[in-house]
Amino acid sequence: MKLIIDTDPGIDDAMAIAYAAAAPEFDLIGLTTVFGNTHVGQSSRNARFLAHKFGLNIPVAQGAAFARGRNAHTPSRHVHGDEGFGDVTEVPEIGANHDLSAAEFLVEMARRHKQDLTVCAVGPLTNIADAMRMDPDFAQNIGQLVIMGGAVFCPGNITEHAEANIYHDAQAADEVFSVAAPTVLVGLDVTLKTLYRTADFEELARHSPEIGGFLRDISRFYLNFYKNVAGLEGCGLHDSTAVIACSHRAMFDVHKTGLKVITNGPEAGATRPDPSRPPLLVCRDVVGEQVVDLFTQRVATLR
Ligand code: RIB
Ligand code: CA
Repeated sequence: MKLIIDTDPGIDDAMAIAYAAAAPEFDLIGLTTVFGNTHVGQSSRNARFLAHKFGLNIPVAQGAAFARGRNAHTPSRHVHGDEGFGDVTEVPEIGANHDLSAAEFLVEMARRHKQDLTVCAVGPLTNIADAMRMDPDFAQNIGQLVIMGGAVFCPGNITEHAEANIYHDAQAADEVFSVAAPTVLVGLDVTLKTLYRTADFEELARHSPEIGGFLRDISRFYLNFYKNVAGLEGCGLHDSTAVIACSHRAMFDVHKTGLKVITNGPEAGATRPDPSRPPLLVCRDVVGEQVVDLFTQRVATLR
């Protein structure tokens, strides 16, 4: 299947892109970038660097710099480091962004590849909402839209109520959930069951010294954040789990429901079931070890 990852790299984003590069099911045809873990310019620089490092000759189309109705964004430096890769800084500038914006690229690829195209969104949903506004057929053109975001049956991570990707542009997320689309939501309900530990990174680095070693090095900062803030001995494979759900849906227990997003007040960014909305599939359970093992097996093959 053809795959575009809409991303804000980002440590777990880097892991997800590595997984997509390694998994034989995917023909990764491009990356689109969005603000989130970093400023969008840094997201694009990081995405171009990762594509080069993982041996991918693919376009990177830059998208939204801010959430709907905002003109500034504060990156999550305490989670992903100053440049998005933890302690690893001074990411080299490689190549240039595509001429099209992220939303234009998404719309054009959806028209060209139709049902063969999967879009996996692992950052704030601003580009996806923009693509839906730009082309009312966008959502129906594509085979599936798989989103890493939300916390439907569990608490949030950025606030008690909200998961970070949804929180960063709650209005765009609410717009996306109001459109009928073949959507699968991979939220904290499942991604916090896929903990990747120091020993997993060491094993990965043994098999794949260059790329696995790079993922281990950028993740030290992230693992410290999880330990110090959440008391967890490992980091969630958030974005990789969404990419895995694109091809291994049977690994997940899914619940069909409509969703709305609270856009204001203390619960802003919360994802709530709403039967009046178009139905989508919410992943509510997974055997985390299966995701972890598949991730290691596949990424370990990268040289
Ligand atoms: O809540 C997890 C999500 O937020 C992931 O996409 C991660 O990259 C962070 O931005
Ligand atoms: Ca992300």
